Amino acid sequence: MRRSRVLGLGRALPERIVPNSELEKLMDTSDEWIQERTGIRERRFITLGEGSSSQLGAEASRSALDAAGLAAGDLDLIVCATLSPDYFFPGNGVLLQEQLGCRHVGALDVRNQCTGFVYGLAVADQFIRTGSCEHVLVVGTEVQSTGIELNDRGRDMAVLFGDGAGAAVLGPSPDPERGILDTRLHSQGKHAKELWLEAPSSRVANRLEPEMLDDGRWFPKMRGRAVFKHAVTRFGEVIAEGLDACGLEVGDVDLLVPHQANQRITEAVGKQVGLAADKVYSNIERYGNTTAASIPIALSEACEEGRIKGGDLVVLAAFGSGFTWASAVIRW
Ligand code: UT7
Repeated sequence: MRRSRVLGLGRALPERIVPNSELEKLMDTSDEWIQERTGIRERRFITLGEGSSSQLGAEASRSALDAAGLAAGDLDLIVCATLSPDYFFPGNGVLLQEQLGCRHVGALDVRNQCTGFVYGLAVADQFIRTGSCEHVLVVGTEVQSTGIELNDRGRDMAVLFGDGAGAAVLGPSPDPERGILDTRLHSQGKHAKELWLEAPSSRVANRLEPEMLDDGRWFPKMRGRAVFKHAVTRFGEVIAEGLDACGLEVGDVDLLVPHQANQRITEAVGKQVGLAADKVYSNIERYGNTTAASIPIALSEACEEGRIKGGDLVVLAAFGSGFTWASAVIRW
């Protein structure tokens, strides 16, 4: 069976830079606390009324198509991962189809939060491997800034997240030794409420009850310490599982590109799997946690910086709400 490979990458970040000092004015927090606990110095927020997660996704997708030397009409499938779609429905996939001017191809929406991009990549890989598709667009895009509580009550979550998008165009690999070697997907729904957004909810009349609004239950909630602990364990497991499935070892890895959740998580994972810091990619200090967008943004920057070269072994790994966790092992 043929393999799929990444033909082109792109990213889109809003122009507006929000340093920690700006959040200090909105809530009881400090630049020192945020940097020490998360590694974040600044993030990007859209300017209200300008831009949406579908628009950021479309911008990243155009760059990825350019990098691949392809046009929107060459795409056979769109896979869009986001937890912040423009609308409750329809999903962002169809909005991308329209904005990019694709043919009337399938547009699939992936709802796996921080793990969404790797889940999407796994789906795209299967479609290409089986020969059902030649070119598949995988997008991770988020606008978090309109959905976080920028005050004292929401400070634990508000300082973490940022807006942005990343995209990859996948196609068949001419070299059977190169491309996506393996993907691993996992979930454990018993932890659904450790990191979740309860409302709006189809379980209640009108989707929103007044007390939901009063309690701020339309903002995401997280038990940070619990999520942190699970994240470190699951990242380590799923990286080892992917490498093992390929008959490879940690020593073979040229670059690990983890979901950018927290610099302390990234460092703990590097230590746990036995990778030196220079083999673990990080850009969280500039963008914060951009959920489904963080891996494709990081991949696109890593390639541009020359951190990934043809033939390198690259491992992607993610963990997030669900809980879900996943990895992809790629011979670039
Ligand atoms: O994207 C994938 C999913 N997300 C993650 O993987 C994130 C996982 N969790 C984390 O990254 C960390 O748990 C956080 C960054 C969210 C929090 O760091 P922590 O070291 O676990 O802090 P904590 O929640 O244990 O809170 C420590 C203290 C608390 O005060 P007390 O109870 O010790 O007096 C918090 O109230 O820090 C306080 N705190 C803050 N202080 C200043 C919480 N948020 C803030 C804040 N500024 N923004």
